[in-house]
Amino acid sequence: MEPPLTAKEAEVKAGIVPRHVAVIMDGNGRWAKSRGLPRLAGHREGAKSVRAVARAARRIGCEVLTLYAFSAQNWQRPEDEVNGLMGLLRQYLVRERDELIENDIRIEAVGDLDRLPSNVKGPLEALRRDTAKCGSLMLVLCLSYGGREEIAAMARRIALDVRDGSLDPDQIDEEALRARMWTGEFPEADLVIRTSGEIRISNFLLWSCAYSEWVFVPAHWPDFREDGFLDAVREYQGRERRFGRVGGLEAG
Ligand code: IPE
Ligand code: IPE
Ligand code: MG
Repeated sequence: MEPPLTAKEAEVKAGIVPRHVAVIMDGNGRWAKSRGLPRLAGHREGAKSVRAVARAARRIGCEVLTLYAFSAQNWQRPEDEVNGLMGLLRQYLVRERDELIENDIRIEAVGDLDRLPSNVKGPLEALRRDTAKCGSLMLVLCLSYGGREEIAAMARRIALDVRDGSLDPDQIDEEALRARMWTGEFPEADLVIRTSGEIRISNFLLWSCAYSEWVFVPAHWPDFREDGFLDAVREYQGRERRFGRVGGLEAG
């Protein structure tokens, strides 16, 4: 049985809830190092934060939660770490299946997914299929993902569509670009959170974060759980989004 909302969850849920929250899950390595553990132990502990944050996002009524799990540039890490991360990813996709379905969470993935090893691709496809009808939250995993790579892939699609005559160059506008982005089917991220105190974008959603609100938190990802997530959403709720217009007070 689902426990009732806590007072803090209820308060956050009563405010303006971001439809789409995206997270740069950073600091696993430093979390492990500060405890004298191997980096992989940090990634393993980070998987528990994924579960906690997905659950919290669903409970307050977010529609989409996008998690930056492995960047296109992360392939350049030592082979041991890449293999360890792929192993943990596979484990997550297999072991979380029942929990995800129970929580009515749908899994999606974006990135250069062809680069993933087949023992990750298989469980990923199975989970996408098995959760396709879940409707309480969409959990989008960014895997082998880069914002520039996404824009390059979109440009290739535009070129192909022009070449085969289905797109007139005069019709290329923002909407034509958006529709061909890997993330084009999701609403734009309202809130982007980065953990571990780093203040940079690291090739995350370059196109769709144009008007996102950003919250940077000092906690490393394995220490970031439901409470930290709710605090970040609260901070978002205190912001005024202007989208280039004048603010609410001046507008009268
Ligand atoms: C984030 O933690 C996880 C991935 C990038 C895969 P890091 O592994 O980047 O941890 P730090 O930043 O080195 O502490
Ligand atoms: C960004 O973190 C990528 C993910 C969280 C998956 P990194 O740790 O790879 O980013 P940099 O190297 O600090 O910019
Ligand atoms: Mg990092």
